[in-house]
Amino acid sequence: MRGKFITLEGIDGAGKSTHLDWLARFLANRGITVKVTREPGGTALGEKLRQLMLHGEARLHPETETLLMFAARREHLEQVILPALASGTWVVCDRFTDATYAYQSGGSGVPWDKVAALEQWVQQGLQPDVTVIFDVAPEVGRARAAKGKSADRFEREPGGFHERVRQGYLRRAKEAPRRVHVIDANAAIAEVHKKLVNIFISFCSE
Ligand code: TYD
Repeated sequence: MRGKFITLEGIDGAGKSTHLDWLARFLANRGITVKVTREPGGTALGEKLRQLMLHGEARLHPETETLLMFAARREHLEQVILPALASGTWVVCDRFTDATYAYQSGGSGVPWDKVAALEQWVQQGLQPDVTVIFDVAPEVGRARAAKGKSADRFEREPGGFHERVRQGYLRRAKEAPRRVHVIDANAAIAEVHKKLVNIFISFCSE
């Protein structure tokens, strides 16, 4: 049987990484073979792009970022995601195309339709089976990120950027309500995990 494709999303500091580790263990404990991967990343090309995007000196034009993200995504699908799904492995991906809508379109102003055109080109209708957006207020994300490695990214983005990213994510959720679940991640970790259990228990038995 084909594996399921799960993606996790949220603004910087939403706590996505903590919840991702927990979810991967939760699924593995139910006997599911899980491949954890991330974007940007997941392939040699993707990891180079990650270096460039997160630690590069010069900022790229947002449309350049969008094009690079989808080029790397094509490779990620080809080399990692599609073969894993075909072999029955479940893929848990730390960010995917919803992040491009949220960051490059919502945050940086690339027209939504341009992202949609590239999505169609690269994915040809393929969508994650389920997506969880960890939703927090930007102030909460900022405070959490300040304790971690993404502090510098918060600092270098202009005011309002993360709220626009958040709104981009919420728009995606509205457009695909069956696929996308929004979890209030301002809550305590245990509360968030309860909600994840609710989503994935029914999903595991589908
Ligand atoms: P993130 O996944 O938060 O990594 P870490 O938890 O290690 O800090 O960082 C990825 C960054 O890349 C994040 O700021 C969002 C950005 N990004 C985009 O701008 N567009 C995209 O399409 C993707 C996948 C990520």
